[in-house]
Formats: sequence, structure tokens, C-alpha cells
Amino acid sequence: MRITSLKKSHIQEIIDLSDTAFGQGYLTIDYLKKYINSSKKSGFVTLSESNKLIGFILLESLSIKNFSNQVLEEKEWFNTYFQGYKNITLIHQIAVNSSFQKQGIATNLLNHFRNQTTVNLELICCFAWVKENFTPFKKILLKDGFLFIKKINNYWLKDSSSKKYNCSYCGAPPCKCSAEIFIKK
Ligand SMILES: CC(C)(COP(=O)(O)OP(=O)(O)OC[C@H]1O[C@@H](n2cnc3c(N)ncnc32)[C@H](O)[C@@H]1OP(=O)(O)O)[C@@H](O)C(=O)NCCC(=O)NCCS
Repeated sequence: MRITSLKKSHIQEIIDLSDTAFGQGYLTIDYLKKYINSSKKSGFVTLSESNKLIGFILLESLSIKNFSNQVLEEKEWFNTYFQGYKNITLIHQIAVNSSFQKQGIATNLLNHFRNQTTVNLELICCFAWVKENFTPFKKILLKDGFLFIKKINNYWLKDSSSKKYNCSYCGAPPCKCSAEIFIKK
């Protein structure tokens, strides 16, 4: 297994994994192309011995203004809470193929990005997906020293309807899942 930066040739495999892990249509080719040769967005993938893509993480370094533009709900709350921070690193998505889970792949992706990034990690933030009553990424984040700060119900409700993507738990839009927000300073 090895971790490498996201390349154009990985995009279709990321979409295939995302369609299963998150829901069909959630990640698109146009969205993922923006991670190639970007100074603000970064993506890393885990490849198996046979070069099959088995995991990925997508991140972005944002000013508070750009962060606020990307937040789907409760912008004002975030503007107040994150006041004073110049740079927020947002963990957008992380997923590991179900056949390869619980082998430390997500943990390694998280550590890899931290070792590789040249961005000042003043504040890292993650909107973790709550699947029914379970938050798959939560244990890893807490183990890593992240702090839970807020839960937002129906976080993707409007976004899933307007962009018309499925949720692997709710099915066709709207997605009624919640997000739990974690930060690490
Ligand atoms: C959340 C997700 C990315 C975690 O990926 P993962 O690679 O299984 O995560 P890790 O292996 O690093 O850690 C998970 C567990 O495996 C354990 N583990 C780590 N290395 C291990 C190893 N070598 N052998 C056995 N278990 C190991 C970890 O301790 C952890 O166990 P715990 O839950 O008891 O603490 C994955 O479940 C997933 O893709 N879920 C669907 C999409 C999703 O929800 N993404 C998050 C959105 S915010």
C-alpha cells in the first residue's frame, strides 16, 4: 500500500468509491479536477499493491471568508466561532473501500496530509457525516485530538436537492443526515 497525491488518472476511481461510500453523484469529475495543480486544494489517495485506489482524502485551505462561503448551514454561527483565524484547513471528504476498512488507512491518510502540507495548520475543521446515529469518522478524529463543537441536523438537505445527488443512507434527495463538526487547533 502507498499514499500519493491525487492525479487526473485517479478521478474515476474516486468517483466510484464516493458513489458507494457517500452516494451517487455526490462527487463529480468537475469538482475533482479542481484538486489537480491547486495551491489551496489538496488530495491524497491510497493505492493497493496492485495500484487499485482504496482510499482518499480531500482538503482545502481557506480564509474565513471563503470558509463561510462554503459552509452549507449556520454561516453566522461559524463566522462568530472562527473569528480571528486567518486560515482554516477543511477536511472535505475521506473514504476507504469497505473491504479495506479498519486497517488504519484513514488514520494514515490524515497523518500523511499533515506531514506533506506546506500550509500553516492554524485550525483544522471537519464536517463529519452522521449516518443514522453513527459517525464513522468520529473515533479517528477524537483519537487524533479533534474536539467536537457542534451538530447540525439536515446539513445536506438543501444542497442534495439543488445538486441532485443521492445519499448512500437516505437514497434519493433530500438527504436528511446530520453533520458533527470537529476542530483541531
Ligand atoms: C470513516 C472511514 C474513512 C474510516 O476508514 P478506516 O480506514 O476504516 O479507518 P482506520 O482503519 O484508520 O480506523 C478505523 C478503526 O480501525 C482501527 N485500526 C487502525 N489500524 C488497524 C489495524 N492495523 N488493524 C485493525 N484495526 C485497525 C482503528 O483503531 C479504528 O478502530 P476503532 O474504531 O476501534 O478505534 C471509513 O469507515 C469510511 O470510508 N466510511 C464511509 C465514508 C465516511 O463515512 N467517511 C467519513 C465522512 S466524514
